Amino acid sequence: MFEAAIYKNRRKALKAKVGGGMILLLGNVESPANYPDNTYKFRQDSSFLYFFGLDMPGFAGVLDVDSGKEYLFGNDVDMDDIIWMGPQPKVKELGEKVGVTQTKPFAKLADLLRQAVGEGRKIHFLPPYRHANMLLIEELLGIRPALQKKYASLELIKAVVSLRSVKEACEIEQITEACNIGYEMHTTAMMHCRSGIKELYVTGLVEGIAASYGKMVSFPVILSQNGETLHNHNHSQLLQMGRMMLTDAGAENNMNYCSDFTRTVPVNGKFDSRQKDVYNIVVACNQKALELSRPGVTYLSVHLEVCKVLAQGLKELGLMCGDVEAAVAAGAHALFMPHGLGHMMGLDVHDMEDLGQIYVGYDEEIRPVNQFGTSSLRMGRRLQPGFVVTDEPGCYFIPALIDQWRQQGLHKDFLVYDKIETFKDFGGIRLEDDVLITEEGCRVLGDKRIPITVEEVENIMK
Ligand code: GLY
Ligand code: MN
Repeated sequence: MFEAAIYKNRRKALKAKVGGGMILLLGNVESPANYPDNTYKFRQDSSFLYFFGLDMPGFAGVLDVDSGKEYLFGNDVDMDDIIWMGPQPKVKELGEKVGVTQTKPFAKLADLLRQAVGEGRKIHFLPPYRHANMLLIEELLGIRPALQKKYASLELIKAVVSLRSVKEACEIEQITEACNIGYEMHTTAMMHCRSGIKELYVTGLVEGIAASYGKMVSFPVILSQNGETLHNHNHSQLLQMGRMMLTDAGAENNMNYCSDFTRTVPVNGKFDSRQKDVYNIVVACNQKALELSRPGVTYLSVHLEVCKVLAQGLKELGLMCGDVEAAVAAGAHALFMPHGLGHMMGLDVHDMEDLGQIYVGYDEEIRPVNQFGTSSLRMGRRLQPGFVVTDEPGCYFIPALIDQWRQQGLHKDFLVYDKIETFKDFGGIRLEDDVLITEEGCRVLGDKRIPITVEEVENIMK
């Protein structure tokens, strides 16, 4: 964890932003996989981690904004726990590490909240995403799970988003560490991408690297020679000569900070000319986002400029036609890129998505766009120094989507369907980097950039 002052400052800033009432921040508990004692790997709630720093199950924090008091609720281990888990620090000691002096057994949380509710005070809580916490909120506050999203505190959501969006220097160090693990995951995948090798084997290598350095992967690995399926978790095929392997994977480091990279490489290490043509367009898209991303610019505008680079490139290959600006305005390019340019990243790979994408990626000024493709953009608002976003353009040939659009006659003025038909066996390409917005512009995170140009990829795969 960071030093106590970091958490104290964050809690102070949170209290100032929320202004009044009690703030309840619930940590996570263990989650059983197939019987109660056989649990999934523990993952702490990211907002609890951000404000209270403790990466263990069974804790909750309360900030009394009106009195300024801060409480940590959790239970000391008993002898049975010590026998099975080894000695553990007392809750009081844990509290001291993160600057909280008022520590109490977990059962006392209900008493404190009951008293506050009795006094008519507002209890701010975040929208829960785990059933255990939904049940706990029902028990503590009497709000049924189905209504908890509605009654979650918008003031608290907005305050948390405003703090967590701007990464501190100590957080950038942690994200950089996660990116360095990502570098090793991706270069290892490249070096093992050979015909006859099972996708699952490469997936396992990638997961193992994440687990060996940090906590785990930051989301389930996407790895397939059918890269046109955006989130392909089916790793059952043998890699084949002539195909490309798309790997979208990142790590969580020991402090739960994330990375998220995508690379697409030719099986056996040599792009053919058709692959190279499309690949270079996606490299140009990734590069365009780096050129444009800087404070004050909306990520929605960066997304749209990147889409124009994609449409221009596809026009030069004879897959699109007509006016590029008009094609992108109409949404024709989304046949090839039906997702957004990127998302915020931090303690969550899709940072703070549990709080509601509308509050993380959009604001009063920049609203979501309701057009296929751009509607999937998770981050549209103006960039600020300290934001970490992903830059992940792609180009995919999705046979079912091509068939549907063709049958419906969609965007016939911009799409050369006869030529597109010949690419139905192509697969998909995505190239993703993690980008810090700086005072002057932006920079890709990680000590070394994962090979991305045709030359760099072919070199490392030799
Ligand atoms: N890298 C997976 C995603 O951003 O959805
Ligand atoms: Mn991503």
